[in-house]
Amino acid sequence: MGNGRAARTRVLALNSSPRKEKGATDLVLRRFLEGAERAGVEVELVYLADRRIEDCRGCFHCWFVTPGKCRIRDDVEELLDMMREADVVVYATPLYTCSMNGIMKRFLDRMLPTVEPYQELDRDGVCRHPRRGERKPIMVLISVAGFPGLRNFDPLVLTMERLAEVGGLELAAKILFPASPALMSNPCPAERQLEAVERAGKELVEGGISTSTLEEMHEPYVEPEVYIEDMNRLFRDLCGRVEG
Ligand SMILES: Cc1cc2nc3c(=O)[nH]c(=O)nc-3n(C[C@H](O)[C@H](O)[C@H](O)COP(=O)(O)O)c2cc1C
Repeated sequence: MGNGRAARTRVLALNSSPRKEKGATDLVLRRFLEGAERAGVEVELVYLADRRIEDCRGCFHCWFVTPGKCRIRDDVEELLDMMREADVVVYATPLYTCSMNGIMKRFLDRMLPTVEPYQELDRDGVCRHPRRGERKPIMVLISVAGFPGLRNFDPLVLTMERLAEVGGLELAAKILFPASPALMSNPCPAERQLEAVERAGKELVEGGISTSTLEEMHEPYVEPEVYIEDMNRLFRDLCGRVEG
C-alpha cells in the first residue's frame, strides 16, 4: 500500500452477468465497491444486460466519417461518456465458455471510437492505437466461474491483459472467484477472501492494492474433489427432478 499514486475519486463498475444482482459476479463486485465507497469515492454500477448494446458493424465510421463517434444510436455512447469521467473502470463478467460473456465482449468491441486509427509501437514494441482524450482510467477485472481452480480464468486474464497493453492502461487487479455456487452457500466458505476483496476496493482508490490483499483473496476456499462430488450430487438431484 501507499505507492505514492494519486487517490482515485470515481469508480465505474460494469457488470455483464444477465443474472445481475442475483449472480455471483455481483456478490464479489459489491464487496469491492463497498470497500471503495468506504474510502469516500463516488461509485456507479451499471448492469450491461439492462442496456441496449448492439453488435459493432465493423464499418469504421467512428474512425473515418465521424471520428470518435459510433453511427449506432443505442446506449453505448452514454456508457463511453461515463468511462471518460472515471478514474477506475471495473469490468465484472461471469466466465462463459472459458472467457468473458457475450454481453461484455459486445460492449468491448464497441469501444473502438475511444481510439484513433493510427498504429504506433511503444518502447517495448507493443503495437497500439493512440487513445482519444487524456484520461487513462485504471482497469480492474472481476470474474467468477463454476469450475474450481484459478486456471479456468487464464484465457480471460490473457485477453484483459492484452486489452490493457493495447490501450496503454494499467490492469491493477484481477479478482477471480472459481467454484461460484460455493460463494452463494451459507455460511460462505470464502468470507475471508471476500473481506480481502473489500479491502482491495479501499486500497485501490487510496493508491494501490497491497500484495498481501491480492494473495489473500486468491487463497483456495474449496477442495476440488469434495466440491465436484457435492456439485455432482446436486446436479443428479436436479436432473432427476427435471426428468421425473
Ligand atoms: C453459457 C455458460 C457458459 C459457462 N462457461 C463456463 C466455463 O467455461 N467455465 C466455468 O468454470 N464456468 C462456466 N460457466 C459457469 C458460470 O461462470 C457460473 O455459473 C457463474 O456463477 C455465472 O455468473 P453469475 O452467477 O454472476 O451469472 C458457464 C455458465 C454459462 C451459463
